[in-house]
Amino acid sequence: MRSFVGRDILSLKDFERHEFFRCFEVAEMLEPYARDRRNGDLLKEKTLVTAFYQPSTRTRLATEAAMHRLGGHVTGFADAKMTRAGDFYQEGIKDTVKMLEYYGDVIAMRHFQQGAPAEAAKHASVPIINCGDGWGEHPTQVLTDLFTIWRERGRLDGLTWILIGDMRMRTMHSMSYALSKFDHKAYVISPDEMYFLPEFEKEVVDMGFRFERKEHIEQVIGEADVIYMEPVVQPDYTKAREEAREDKGTTPSNYQVTKKLLFEKAKPDAIVLHSLPRQDELLPDVDTTRHQRYWVEAYNGVLMRMSLLALVLGAVE
Ligand code: CP
Repeated sequence: MRSFVGRDILSLKDFERHEFFRCFEVAEMLEPYARDRRNGDLLKEKTLVTAFYQPSTRTRLATEAAMHRLGGHVTGFADAKMTRAGDFYQEGIKDTVKMLEYYGDVIAMRHFQQGAPAEAAKHASVPIINCGDGWGEHPTQVLTDLFTIWRERGRLDGLTWILIGDMRMRTMHSMSYALSKFDHKAYVISPDEMYFLPEFEKEVVDMGFRFERKEHIEQVIGEADVIYMEPVVQPDYTKAREEAREDKGTTPSNYQVTKKLLFEKAKPDAIVLHSLPRQDELLPDVDTTRHQRYWVEAYNGVLMRMSLLALVLGAVE
């Protein structure tokens, strides 16, 4: 197995099957810190730098919480406007990273430009963790999603998936790469204007991702083991920030999951995952159903980030 020590976590494209399971194993090994709500000292000599050029609730705070749980230190920024990258100077990735690499031992980066974390990794002497890059990828979220499924179902092979919503989303890209490594059946339900770009579709099909397109979730919800959702009412992920608007639009029923639909058509053990935040595609009445697993992910997200930090910083082999 390739070592994780010193490795950048930029994409799931090159993740091998056993590497997913190694991340899961380490997450479970470190779980007592999160479960018992205590901080240890595994990374007490290490510092995490968070460089977030786009808003985040879950990814940044879960990564920071993970570092605290392992006894490490945290510095960084949550709004690039308060740095030289976001003012008059518009300081670029290279110049910024050539500073940040000396302020800590690992850099967790979210950026509105696809490929920005990979660009940072070219210049940094410390590992870069991609926490979402434009429409590119979101590997730590999808590792959390897969870890959640693995814990719930005991396996990743042999499941039927529905990927529903905006297929341009970085989570959908990372999930498509990941599923290509596992035995799967998948349905993709997305508006045409939010469908995979042709070059991405060709790439993942060539890698082994097999799916059928469907128009409406009602057509296939009865077959699904996992319903993996993203909004179709979305901001532009190439922007640093987009303010809320009155005329955001609403979600057609084709892309919506409701308690009624789950009750009437879903398998009893079907799981609904959503990386969140949501709009009206996932109605609040689903929260109290047996299918909901998106809140569980708040916890699993900390475990997965503890695992990744411990692995890339060499605290576990
Ligand atoms: N899932 C996710 O990426 O959420 P945040 O944007 O809040 O980090």
